[in-house]
Amino acid sequence: MILERLSVPIVLAPLAGGPTTPRLAAAVSNAGGLGFLAAGYLTADALADQIARAAAMTEGPLGVNVFVPGRPPVSADPVAAYAATLEAEADRAGIGLGAPRFDDDQWEAKLALLAVDPLPVTSFTFGCPDQAVITALQAAGSEVWVTVTTPADAQQAAAAGADVLVLQGSEAGGHRGSFRDDPADNAGGGFGLLSLLQLVRARTDLPLVAAGGISTGAGIAAVLAAGAAAAQLGTAFLLTPEAGTAPVHQAAIAASGDTAMTRAFTGRLARGIRNRFMIEHDADAPVAYPEVHYLTAPLRAAGRAADDPDLVNLWAGETHELSRELPAADLVTLLAAEARAALQAAASAYGR
Ligand SMILES: Cc1cc2nc3c(=O)[nH]c(=O)nc-3n(C[C@H](O)[C@H](O)[C@H](O)COP(=O)(O)O)c2cc1C
Repeated sequence: MILERLSVPIVLAPLAGGPTTPRLAAAVSNAGGLGFLAAGYLTADALADQIARAAAMTEGPLGVNVFVPGRPPVSADPVAAYAATLEAEADRAGIGLGAPRFDDDQWEAKLALLAVDPLPVTSFTFGCPDQAVITALQAAGSEVWVTVTTPADAQQAAAAGADVLVLQGSEAGGHRGSFRDDPADNAGGGFGLLSLLQLVRARTDLPLVAAGGISTGAGIAAVLAAGAAAAQLGTAFLLTPEAGTAPVHQAAIAASGDTAMTRAFTGRLARGIRNRFMIEHDADAPVAYPEVHYLTAPLRAAGRAADDPDLVNLWAGETHELSRELPAADLVTLLAAEARAALQAAASAYGR
């Protein structure tokens, strides 16, 4: 079990779309945590290149995260209707909207790559892979971690043979890892991390990795006390110099500002810092991932190029303003020291 071999209980969250770099993943692994690569949006060839580059920079364990594909849409109408509401935005930015399309993010090619050249950990999000996929990866020598957002999904992943469950609370930045992106499932806003940890701990003995809203060692201590084997942090690493986070995104992360969940940017529910695009378009956005992702891609790219925070998907967890601008290895070391101090303080106050 890789988690038992880590010298610090810290997992770098996969951060698809730019922030994840081989340098960042290797730096976290070199500091005693578990560095992750993010396969999402990459071609299988680009992923192979990133794996080779990260592996050349560390002797430590590495993980890779893969998006589980959804189903092709029944109708293109809702996306076309949403596109019509975005025309004025595109005109203002001086670009054309992207062509919406469904794809599976090169699912088969990525699985084929990881079967031949496995990393110690393969994690999945957006769904639970079939048992056959899980057992094939395990046979190739990789642990399989599955991201879950509800106790029911946790039970399904455990029954499918997952080695570890990554619990993603509703505080988390970026896309929800829900098996189904159904508005009815999220009507209550989703499970907070501490609720999810307690509920899943009561249903399974599998090792749990806790993600969502953790930016300090005290946050890590809290999830360890609640039964997690490690904490997975995403937003906390977005300001490290090794991350490929866009400058406009970094500036928003470092400032205080409310976050909210929206489908406006990609058609799938995700948490980001509230900005004009989110506020104006959230109500019109359909459940249509990845079609809306492709539709808004040129707008978001234009926003990044112009440093316009109101056009960019500023993915961030609820505690983003606590992110620190430190080299990744220093951040891991500091977080681990803070976590130890927080656990000792709690034990000496209440542990007798
Ligand atoms: C910019 C960004 C990109 C993300 N990309 C992925 C991804 O590719 N795969 C994944 O499983 N989770 C992804 N996540 C979610 C993280 O895995 C994790 O659940 C989240 O960062 C935890 O919450 P925190 O950001 O408050 O630490 C992403 C999060 C952010 C902020």
